[in-house]
Amino acid sequence: MKKQTREIVLSGMRPTGRLHLGHYHGVLRNWLKLQEEHDCFFFVADWHALTTEYATPESIRQSTREMVIDWLSVGLNPSKATFFIQSDIKEHAELYLLLSMITPLGWLERVPSYKDLQKELTQKDLSTHGFLGYPLLQTADIVLYNATKVPVGEDQVPHIELAREVVRRFNFIYGETLVEPQPLLTNSPKLLGPDRRKMSKSYNNCLYLGDSADEIRRKVSEAITDPARQRKSDPGNPDICLIFDYHKLHSPSDLQNRINEECRAAKIGCVEDKKRIIEILNDFLEPIRKEKARLLEKPQEIDLIIEEGEKKARQVAEATMERIRKVMKI
Ligand code: TRP
Repeated sequence: MKKQTREIVLSGMRPTGRLHLGHYHGVLRNWLKLQEEHDCFFFVADWHALTTEYATPESIRQSTREMVIDWLSVGLNPSKATFFIQSDIKEHAELYLLLSMITPLGWLERVPSYKDLQKELTQKDLSTHGFLGYPLLQTADIVLYNATKVPVGEDQVPHIELAREVVRRFNFIYGETLVEPQPLLTNSPKLLGPDRRKMSKSYNNCLYLGDSADEIRRKVSEAITDPARQRKSDPGNPDICLIFDYHKLHSPSDLQNRINEECRAAKIGCVEDKKRIIEILNDFLEPIRKEKARLLEKPQEIDLIIEEGEKKARQVAEATMERIRKVMKI
């Protein structure tokens, strides 16, 4: 048997709204597995949210708390992993500042998300120092906890690359001090919303983890299936049907096989198929909803979890900062 080595795993999420099924399959499902196998730190990156939302910060605080509640309600467990809020640990800011001294501007300017997001989010002025520094703040997040593995999606890999370069430069200048992280690529299935576009808050097409059974029913009933299939007697194509994508993630394989065959043979209609997936999704979401409702009734329990996480995170972050201050003679 292969001996399992426990790695230090760290990842963060920006608090930009409620979590949906896309987050579950793309991120949380992976975190659930990692918390069983490694020493995990998961944090809410509220300062990172400010880099783009600085003009409308009202929602960040509320989303921060709700994000922790969403994490807990899917089964992330504070006795297995450490959960904390970035802005509670001021060492992130101190390390970000110190790392900025040795980071060439060109390294930040060539990170693809810098120019891409500036072009995409044209209604926001992102020609700020904070936005340029986004991946360097992320470097500080990672390095403070000596993380060796950082679970991220493909889009974040250049940020981890930058972190690795900064660590190497730091260690070259001041001597071996910081741990070089590696990305842990999460293969996240792209989940479509009922309108066939990528599930995303900005498209307003999300199946939220906290949606009621009725909301799920309404949203999924309106979903666009195989556009070429006009009536039940037309054979359907599950390969391009988002409902079938949901089956792939939520249904037992014998049911998947049966639906696959029956849809292609025009034996089962979309309405019937939708009814079935609505039930399956609601069965999956029900315990999450229940736990979320329970936690919302218990604000002190959340406070305590956040406080405990903060303590554990601070211990590690302080120790790293001491090492860093020492080698930087500050
Ligand atoms: N930039 C990440 C995202 O948008 C969030 C994040 C911030 C992060 N700090 C991190 C992820 C540190 C991993 C490690 O998804």
